[in-house]
Amino acid sequence: MSVLNGKKILLGVSGGIAAYKTASLVRLFIKAGAHVQVIMTPASKDFVTPLTLSTLSKNPVHSSFFNQEDQDAVWNNHVELALWADLMLIAPATANTLSKMVTGNCDNLLIATYLSAKCPVYFAPAMDLDMYKHPSTLSGFTALKQFGNIMIPAENGELASGLSGEGRMAEPENIIAFLEADLESKLPLKGKKILITAGPTYEAIDPVRFIGNHSSGKMGFDLANEAANLGAEVVLVAGPTHYKVKYSQIQVVNVVSAQEMYEACHLYFDHADVAIAAAAVADYRPKVVALQKIKKASDEFSIELEKTKDILASLGAIKKKQFLIGFALETENEIENAKLKIQKKNLDLIVLNSLQDEGAGFKKETNKVTFIDQKFKVEPMELKSKESVAVDILNKVISHFSEL
Ligand code: CTP
Repeated sequence: MSVLNGKKILLGVSGGIAAYKTASLVRLFIKAGAHVQVIMTPASKDFVTPLTLSTLSKNPVHSSFFNQEDQDAVWNNHVELALWADLMLIAPATANTLSKMVTGNCDNLLIATYLSAKCPVYFAPAMDLDMYKHPSTLSGFTALKQFGNIMIPAENGELASGLSGEGRMAEPENIIAFLEADLESKLPLKGKKILITAGPTYEAIDPVRFIGNHSSGKMGFDLANEAANLGAEVVLVAGPTHYKVKYSQIQVVNVVSAQEMYEACHLYFDHADVAIAAAAVADYRPKVVALQKIKKASDEFSIELEKTKDILASLGAIKKKQFLIGFALETENEIENAKLKIQKKNLDLIVLNSLQDEGAGFKKETNKVTFIDQKFKVEPMELKSKESVAVDILNKVISHFSEL
């Protein structure tokens, strides 16, 4: 999935012949799953029609401070537009628009919005080769880069003037590739390897029966999806569940029993930077697994159980640099029990669920958790969707790496 998926993109189009290419650009953004709004300078409408861009972007196109044809003259709020965007791209950026971006000469909606933007701003220059090389253009590029704007360099090739050289706006496909590479390189968990456990485990009694629990696996899958979204390389060791991951780059290792989960985790833990144990692992399993289906005979029947290995504690015992997060599900003395688990399992952070909290626990869409760190700092959180809890947990991971 493209990193542009779900991103809100504000495309500023200025008046050069390359404006015709913005039709393809908008199509590619939409295909990548982005939401697009377009602002056009008055001159750009000579090169591509607002109708084309509004049809492709599925949104009205903005080009003046208010809509002249509208009797009520609704004001186009440039501040709102700018704050809406996750990123702004000015393409083509003509010499005229570039110079206005440098000086802040705010005589159109595009520049007013640019000046209000707090999001990353990219610009893709387009002009004739001598204009592109002119010292005034070059000093403009330097100034804009100093402002923190990101330049998508022009390409070499045939120009509208008939001359050939540098100055053509980058091709739409190349603009998309540039943006994707730039955004990916800036993801907060880029280069981090995260091991996550999810779901229940099933402990066989005989070939058809098992001991299991009601864990749906949702919390672990939400963590895996969000971690991948933030750029991490994710290995998800999942017990039996119907959930599917959203991103193909997540490596899913399907397991059934606690022993299989233990072995899979130990296979990947060494290379991991972070491990999050969200699985509801069975604490006990039948001591002997019957090879054939157990027939009903006597009125009473009992199964001897033995302890499974505590996966999280075993990881805590061998951890080196890994940031280790565990979950605790408690029904009484929650905080004290959770603190004991931090010590016993050598954790960096524990995510405590209390079954006393309505909306928390198994088979729920929501969760109410309390974070407790190694220094026993207790941080109760609001009742939230499990997706939002996953975001909160991964924010803890991000802060850990930013403090290193
Ligand atoms: N866990 C694990 N392996 C086990 C049991 C638990 O990795 N065999 C992990 C869970 O994934 C969770 C954490 O340990 O992150 C806490 O599990 P929990 O069942 O709440 O606590 P236990 O340590 O099993 O203790 P108890 O059941 O006695 O409360």
